[in-house]
Amino acid sequence: MPVSVIPQHPCLHSTAILHQCRNFIRVGIVFSCAFRSSRIPIGSDLFPVLCLWYNLFVVNIIFHSGNGSGQTASVPSGTTLQEAAGLAGIDLRTHCGGAGTCKKCVVIVNGKTVLACRTKAESDLTVVVPESSLRKNEQQAVVQTGLTENFSGYAGLSSPFPVLRPAARSAHPCGIAVDIGTTTLAAELHDFAGQRAVQTAARANPQRAFGDDLMTRIQKGMENPAAFAEMQQSVVHTVNEMIAEMTGKSGLKPDDVSAAVVAGNTVMQCLFFGIDPSPLGEAPYIAPAATFPPVLCRSIGLAGSPDSTVEGFPVFGGFVGGDITAGVLTLQNITRGLQTDPGQGLCRPCFFLDIGTNGEMVLAKDGGLFTAATAAGPAFEGAKIRCGTLAVPGAVDHVTLDGSGFRISTIGNLPAVGLCGSGLIDAVAVLLESGVIKSSGQFAEKQKSVELVSAAESGTHEPVVLTQQDIRELQLAAGAMRAGMTLLLQKNNVQPEELETFYVAGGFGQFIRPASARRIGLLPPLPLRKFQFCGNTSLAGAGMMLRDPSQAEVVRRFVQQSQHFDLASFPEFHTAFAESMRF
Ligand code: FES
Repeated sequence: MPVSVIPQHPCLHSTAILHQCRNFIRVGIVFSCAFRSSRIPIGSDLFPVLCLWYNLFVVNIIFHSGNGSGQTASVPSGTTLQEAAGLAGIDLRTHCGGAGTCKKCVVIVNGKTVLACRTKAESDLTVVVPESSLRKNEQQAVVQTGLTENFSGYAGLSSPFPVLRPAARSAHPCGIAVDIGTTTLAAELHDFAGQRAVQTAARANPQRAFGDDLMTRIQKGMENPAAFAEMQQSVVHTVNEMIAEMTGKSGLKPDDVSAAVVAGNTVMQCLFFGIDPSPLGEAPYIAPAATFPPVLCRSIGLAGSPDSTVEGFPVFGGFVGGDITAGVLTLQNITRGLQTDPGQGLCRPCFFLDIGTNGEMVLAKDGGLFTAATAAGPAFEGAKIRCGTLAVPGAVDHVTLDGSGFRISTIGNLPAVGLCGSGLIDAVAVLLESGVIKSSGQFAEKQKSVELVSAAESGTHEPVVLTQQDIRELQLAAGAMRAGMTLLLQKNNVQPEELETFYVAGGFGQFIRPASARRIGLLPPLPLRKFQFCGNTSLAGAGMMLRDPSQAEVVRRFVQQSQHFDLASFPEFHTAFAESMRF
């Protein structure tokens, strides 16, 4: 996509000239003083040149946004408005990581609507940022664990840090469990004496500036390896903020943290520990590291006592990462079965599914674990959906249809600002039931969209609509997930109806209406009583291993008993995918 360069507005031009003059004088004084007082032999002769450079190549951008105004960034000419906004502390929605495809980063310059990621600043500018382009409030709450029952590696790379034994838990009073989600970071402060979580914190994952999905981030790093380092530092920095927040609330200091356990998908764990995730950027999608043993917190920039250690969960393979390993650890129904001898049949078949931009899945059967992942894309997180949004306040999270039209509910009962994943699934399910959408995914009548919320009732003064393209995106996401489940069951000779329990993990899983998810094929056709929604099992598993380091051995054993399937390599996958596209 061509980069659009903003023409300078005549009014801005005169303002800019005055501004440049002031800058020139200000910078001149600074350089003059600096050179005259220094012993640097270049003397003061160079200062006009440096001033000229500064004034020619540095532009000032003033951002006006809904949550404040007048945030300014001084950046080199040619910087994109997206980067400048980040420097000014404005968090724009950048689902596609600046590829120009998601159209979420819209800003207004001189009355003209442009994409911040595709627009370079060549001169001083004033930029208006609409509410709808802000990530404001996209930080999702820490999802409570809420368990409902009693419940081969990359050759060249490994962690560059010395591997250690975990620090003694008793030396300091607390430890940190962290779920490194692609979208959200969630953490708990655990008190070792009380053996429980005493504080929680959540933040948006700052890596979203590099793209909302894993592949976009890997791509950014493969194009510019420095980006991987930036991603690592930004996450560690944010986790440190959470550590400071949680320890502060408990009257402790970050130095009181003696151990940390993190769980995340394979890419997130690699980036956190400074391991290049590039092998996951292309087929055959090999995990760059299989295990993430303890390293000194300080070696990766993480806060903690000088001898504190941080470790991650081993991964099952490919994209089925430590978040899933941690999740399985929390499911006693599965882990109890795994502690018996394989083949004894003591573990009735169970399925574990984490729904996100990837569908990561585990089938537990006969004392063994069979894992796979499918790329679902970011439709459930609102990307590529016309009015899509994350599960933020004001997001439409449930939709029903009665004789008088759509009935919607929104998060926080606020005026609707968009459609989050659960609302999207509900909307399509009710339209399928009412015959407005055919099983092929097409609207039955000639129409391009359905209005769910009118402009007058919405919080953005724009209607919230569901388009034909949105339905297509949902078909692709749900179809990939369903094809993966179907094939994993088939390869292991399990019929869906044989499953004793179907566990659904992840923040998103907590909000979907099971009947709607089943109607669109995202969940298999099982009785509703067989579904169990477990919440953030990644964080729960990290907490378990933090409090009881012996769980690492349990995890090691069940990962050894697992078999990972690369579904895309099976020729049947494409047929299964095509068949799963029908609702
Ligand atoms: S279009 Fe700008 S970030 Fe996606």
